[in-house]
Amino acid sequence: EKEGYDHFMLKEIYEQPKTILDAMRGRINSKDSRVALRGIEEYANRFVRADRIIIVACGTSYHSGLIGEYLIEDLARIPVEVEYASEFRYRNPILSERDIVIALSQSGETADTMAALELAQRKGAMIYGIVNSVGSSIARLTDAGSYIHAGPEIGVASTKAFTGQVTVLSLLALTLARKLSTISNTYFQRLVSELELIPGKVEEALKANDHIKYIAGEIKDHHNALYLGRGYNFPVALEGALKLKEISYIHAEGYPAAEMKHGPIALIDENMPVIVVATNKSAYEKIVSNVQEVIARKGRVIAVVNQGEEAISNIADHVIEIPDTEEPFSPLLSVIPLQLLSYHIAVELGRNVDQPRNLAKSVTVE
Ligand code: F6R
Repeated sequence: EKEGYDHFMLKEIYEQPKTILDAMRGRINSKDSRVALRGIEEYANRFVRADRIIIVACGTSYHSGLIGEYLIEDLARIPVEVEYASEFRYRNPILSERDIVIALSQSGETADTMAALELAQRKGAMIYGIVNSVGSSIARLTDAGSYIHAGPEIGVASTKAFTGQVTVLSLLALTLARKLSTISNTYFQRLVSELELIPGKVEEALKANDHIKYIAGEIKDHHNALYLGRGYNFPVALEGALKLKEISYIHAEGYPAAEMKHGPIALIDENMPVIVVATNKSAYEKIVSNVQEVIARKGRVIAVVNQGEEAISNIADHVIEIPDTEEPFSPLLSVIPLQLLSYHIAVELGRNVDQPRNLAKSVTVE
């Protein structure tokens, strides 16, 4: 079943060009510049009139939710909040019929996410699911939704479900942007064409595997790691840190790069690997200076950059290159090397990659 791969996690990482394509199948067509999510079409009025979208999820799905917030606010200009389902359900949230609550879940069985949706439904909000497991509890409960069609995810550490969720959230943001005319036709068309190129670019990003394996060997004996990113890549930093913690048991934290100077910079010395996602165009100069700050304190920098980048490549200890894309889609590419890096570190340390200690694939108790 592993089809020649040593672990399900590696197989699932490598499946992503296909699973991202599957998440888009029948939903996007750049030739006639069309994006359509059926679940949205059915409830188009609710979405167009929505005061607010609230995304609830746990773990990795929460991180894709954060990317969803950036996408929907940036492109469709609807206010979005993202909450851990476990917090949302117990804090007496304010909700009305003009709110839409979107749950993100690979398994569709996560107890806290399910309970958050039930609460939202009782309060009259429309509930929407972005789920992988067909026919799961969350899929059955929601008013409408979109499957991500990633196929079964066996490795406990979520990889292809994350990129599948981000793909569907991209389609959702584009669908709403079209309906609300919040972006120009030219920009819309450019984004639609670019999204179709993402599976091929993921394939390209996977080619850095051997180099990433080498870097893993260099940093595997550290006890801590810091992940930094800005904008669309801040949630990717959180996800990179979670992947490392889960399967290698190395302590890691993700931070917005500019928050570093408000505390975590005190941790930086030659024993602290700092993984910087430095692909954002809009914040590029700022992230270059964040990297300089780390290096000035002898931190060891592993940078994920776009092909041909120079400023950071010249000063970082290790550089991983990925293809360029439109900024809203950069997480779909920048997360790939971070998945591979955690994988190889965990393998080098002899960890049980597919079934890390203390973790279950779906958390059906709160
Ligand atoms: C991370 C991981 C967990 C899940 C979380 C939510 O790799 O596996 O953090 O993402 O338990 O699970 P779902 O998406 O099934 O609701």
